[in-house]
Amino acid sequence: MRVQLLVLALVCLAAGGHASCQGNACQEQAQAARAAGLLGGTLGSCAPKTYPTSGALSPITLDNHINDLKWAAGPDGSVSDKYIFALTMETDGFPGGPLYLSDNGGQPNSWTDLTPKIAAALPAGNDSLKGVMEAVWHEKKPDRIFFQGKGRFHFVSSDYGATFKALPTPGGTEGYAQELRLHPRQPDWILAKVRRNECLVDRRSAACAFDLFLTQDFGESWANLTANSAGRVASFRDFDWGCHLAMFAGKPTPDEAIFATVYASASSQKGLYPGWDKDLHYVVSLDLFKTPVVKMVPCGNLFEVVAKKVYLAVPSDCPVGPDGKARAAPKQGITGRT
Ligand SMILES: *[C@@H]1O[C@H](CO)[C@@H](O)[C@H](O)[C@H]1NC(C)=O
Ligand SMILES: *[C@@H]1O[C@H](CO)[C@@H](O)[C@H](O)[C@H]1NC(C)=O
Repeated sequence: MRVQLLVLALVCLAAGGHASCQGNACQEQAQAARAAGLLGGTLGSCAPKTYPTSGALSPITLDNHINDLKWAAGPDGSVSDKYIFALTMETDGFPGGPLYLSDNGGQPNSWTDLTPKIAAALPAGNDSLKGVMEAVWHEKKPDRIFFQGKGRFHFVSSDYGATFKALPTPGGTEGYAQELRLHPRQPDWILAKVRRNECLVDRRSAACAFDLFLTQDFGESWANLTANSAGRVASFRDFDWGCHLAMFAGKPTPDEAIFATVYASASSQKGLYPGWDKDLHYVVSLDLFKTPVVKMVPCGNLFEVVAKKVYLAVPSDCPVGPDGKARAAPKQGITGRT
């Protein structure tokens, strides 16, 4: 069965070609979108719309549900209005479907399914999963794009999707279950949290854990930071780059700094979905976990860096306070839970 989704292209036709919609350049298109009920239109109304088939607003039909549209980056932090990627859903309803590209500002006749190009990049015998989960741009070279594959390969294109190179995923793990974080200052550095292949066999085994991997060459090679830790970390949960804070402990934060929440030992970790857990701890490493961490907050489970502060969530049954001293865990809420 072919699943179809209409996307309406805001085709910006200015004199002499297409132009950027930044500023107020797209008033005419905004009017057309409003008339079609798309912008601040009839909220709450489920009446089917008849979309315009000519003029400034044109429908596009792709064969898969669209999960996300990503405009390519242009030079110096600008947005390219020429190349637009569509990340789609698989026919099973999960992300990681075929990748589509418009090489002409989203116009209806400009969309191509890139699956054949991705298939051509995969080594023989590895061509089963060609779907793409996510696309991220190289900050210094916007034509260079990293695509998170669904299977055991990621892809890099250095020409806005004209050609692809297949790169084995960190540790040969499934791309589907990976989370990526780009470094705020080093455009070639990406952190990936990956799920070990052991989880495919038994999700409850102590060997089923999450590792952090680092690439410093935009996906060509990956280092396993759990291995770096030489037994001090058994599994990772939350993670981010430390240099979201300019200063750490009174000094400029090094590029290598990582904030994370971790299980220190395989015997304490609770598999893939631990819930709130007093055995998870927040840690700061300044050297990619090669030496013992420089800070540890007991029971730190999840965190966000907001407004130059780290907000850390700790479960209420934590037996020690942030200072490491014993505390009375409050008994409240549902019987048998804290
Ligand atoms: C997939 O590619 C890898 C090398 O990247 C190779 O080691 C492996 O044998 C290939 N798998 C199959 C089924 O051919
Ligand atoms: C990463 O390293 C750890 C520790 O050596 C190891 O147990 C784990 O299997 C490695 N992960 C992957 C995906 O290879």
